[in-house]
Amino acid sequence: MNKQEVILCDSLTENLGQAIARIPHDRLFLLTDEHTHALCTPLLSDVKAVKQATEIVIGSEDVNKNLQTLADVWMQLSTQGASRKSLLINLGGGMLTDLGGFAASTFKRGIAFINIPTTLLAMVDAAVGGKTGINFNGLKNEIGCFSPAASVLLETEFLRTLDQANLCSGYAEMLKHGLISNKQHLDELLSFGMEQIDYAQLKKLVGQSVKVKEEIVATDPQEHGIRKALNLGHTIGHAFESLALATGHPVLHGYAVAWGLVCELYLSYIYTGFPKELLQQIIYFVKSNYGAFHFDCKQYEQLYELMKHDKKNSNGIINFTLLHGVGDIALNCQAEKGVIFETFDFFRENMGI
Ligand code: GLY
Repeated sequence: MNKQEVILCDSLTENLGQAIARIPHDRLFLLTDEHTHALCTPLLSDVKAVKQATEIVIGSEDVNKNLQTLADVWMQLSTQGASRKSLLINLGGGMLTDLGGFAASTFKRGIAFINIPTTLLAMVDAAVGGKTGINFNGLKNEIGCFSPAASVLLETEFLRTLDQANLCSGYAEMLKHGLISNKQHLDELLSFGMEQIDYAQLKKLVGQSVKVKEEIVATDPQEHGIRKALNLGHTIGHAFESLALATGHPVLHGYAVAWGLVCELYLSYIYTGFPKELLQQIIYFVKSNYGAFHFDCKQYEQLYELMKHDKKNSNGIINFTLLHGVGDIALNCQAEKGVIFETFDFFRENMGI
């Protein structure tokens, strides 16, 4: 996988103009959803090359991250004259950058693309690191490939209009990056005020957070080893997310990750010696900013089954990434079923359910 250029923008207009100029291309295409088309495309209007771009607009919800939308994008590229030398700009959240990245990576065996993520979750996670794909057969990101964007442009000014829930959602992935990197970065993240956002400070934290991911991805682009560190909080988090969806009360991805982090740090405390005081600090932060996930002991089996079906497992063994301490990662850990159920008890007691 080629190295991906990630730019923390000072001026989106200038940075995008330069990024486009660095990639030889014949035609330029811009993929947006109905929201980014209305709110963000106008912000690119000063970029000369973008004025001549052909825009393709798709639906914004995650239900559109499917084969039909992908085929629509391929069709538009094909009928509007895209060639192997064309360039696609993906302007949107993680759903759009995942789908657009996959469309570009497969069209005529692959054309170059630039990601401009517009949500915090996409900036610090989805749009960086080369994972692309769509949902299929009821499974999230079931079809896709590793294919890095030529450039990822992070314009944190977009975050000023992001709602609080989506900010918190993205911030959970930043918290995860803090936990797998170093204590200084984690402390900065834990002392950041989520109610009264300091956007200059947030920009600095986003830059640091993305670097954590970039360094890991550069070492292990296809997740054979250390990239699994990025799965911290996600084994139980995905089970919470799926249970919430199945019971008709969907939650934002990052909320499920934040609750998953609490559970998996408890497992880390039990199995790999993660410090109790730090676990309590994370619980306090998560409880204050994300509230609690509500479930009862009758749902433990269902959660366990969901965890067994996670695509990160092999041979039906539930795979966890745990921590000995901040930045001290334990990959490919297992936990006994009884201890996982004890973890659910711990979560419910400590999160005040
Ligand atoms: N979202 C985790 C990863 O990119 O590997």
